[in-house]
Amino acid sequence: MSAVLHRNLVTQLPTVVRGEGAYLYDQSGKRYLDACGGAAVSALGHSNAAVIQAIKDQLDEVAYAHTGFFTNEPAEELAEFLVARAPEGFGAGRVMFLGSGSEAMEAALKLARQFHVERGNPERGHIIGREMAYHGNTLGALAVGGHRQRRAPYQPLLIDVTRTPACYAYRLKRDDETEEEFGVRTANHLEDEILRLGPETVAAFVVEPVSGATLGTVPPAPGYFKRIREICDKYGVLLIADEVMCGMGRTGTLFALEQEGIAPDIITMAKGLGAGYQPIAAVMGGGKVIQAILQGSGSLWNGHTYMSHAVACAGALAVLKTIEANDLLENVRQKGELLSKLLKQRFGQHRHVGDIRGRGLFWSLELVADRTSKEPFPASACLAATIKATAQENGLLCYPASGCVDGELGDHVLLAPTYDVTEEQLMTIIDILDRTLKHCLSNAALAA
Ligand SMILES: Cc1ncc(COP(=O)(O)O)c(C=O)c1O
Repeated sequence: MSAVLHRNLVTQLPTVVRGEGAYLYDQSGKRYLDACGGAAVSALGHSNAAVIQAIKDQLDEVAYAHTGFFTNEPAEELAEFLVARAPEGFGAGRVMFLGSGSEAMEAALKLARQFHVERGNPERGHIIGREMAYHGNTLGALAVGGHRQRRAPYQPLLIDVTRTPACYAYRLKRDDETEEEFGVRTANHLEDEILRLGPETVAAFVVEPVSGATLGTVPPAPGYFKRIREICDKYGVLLIADEVMCGMGRTGTLFALEQEGIAPDIITMAKGLGAGYQPIAAVMGGGKVIQAILQGSGSLWNGHTYMSHAVACAGALAVLKTIEANDLLENVRQKGELLSKLLKQRFGQHRHVGDIRGRGLFWSLELVADRTSKEPFPASACLAATIKATAQENGLLCYPASGCVDGELGDHVLLAPTYDVTEEQLMTIIDILDRTLKHCLSNAALAA
């Protein structure tokens, strides 16, 4: 038995020994096509020569020096790279580099709080999140997230956060409203909540521009974010975009919110930033936030030992330069359209596929027992877990999850292939997924 405290203490995992392009190999030589990059991480596959070389070169220079004493070149260059490409309002922004998405979310919450305190508004401490959101597993990030089942065991440890509904058209849009009307109606819940709490007490609204793991790649309804921006501006509430999963090109643009025509005040990013070559995440404060600190205490009140790690920053810089030099975001957009088409062709009429949704190379199928009533499969069918295991047996890595309906019920399968994915690989993904679903759904349908 393993001495590692794995996610599951009972089951035995295969050992990964090698990665090559979009494929991973275990100790028995079995090959897996990676269609999800773990959790939408491995944007450049598993053997990118330029990124590996940049990391080795940095190790030969210097690996680590504490940020209380030094800055380092990769961190400076990476911050400049991001700020130069960031949305409007970030020209005078600054970036903090951390080790994980959760850490970045904690830092974003603290940055928002510092902003208000520096401006003489210490009563602004309340955070508003969204139902069914996921922002990480550390206590602050978990408290803001809206996945009831994940929060439940830790409830006594969590700060008090209130939530607005997710912008989840498949289940929440009324038949008598347009997509736009649904978007604006959903956004207006934020104004109601701010007024209920008292605007002078609210620090920030936290939102994933394209919902990731818990809801399964749900893009916002048209008009949703424009209205959210208006509401935040009206009441002096900061808008924090959690782009940990959907950012860094995954949905077709470097910053996910770009596509909604608005800019947030604070952005977090992680998975695609290091693409798995190094653990790295970032939080970027826009000009308004940084200005408040410069005019106030002049110092960041939140620090970590591994901030701006030189090797991690060198790896991330190489990832972003590789994406740009090879115009991979164009491939994300083109192959994203193809993936959408292939999914709709193959599963559009499937009796157990209720919804097919996504953006860029970030797509999901939501599975239902009944397409007309949208009734989910019973939790006892353990559908998501069975699909994950069966796909892996079939040589495909995909990311199914359950709970999209209410934190417990509802199953979806998330796909997030590499940014350089080929048409042939997409066809293989669809074929293996189809075979896997046929096998798993026939058993689940019996259980429903
Ligand atoms: C949107 C979002 N935010 C935050 C996190 C937390 O990131 P990490 O697992 O690196 O702490 C995740 C992880 O899946 C995520 O999807």
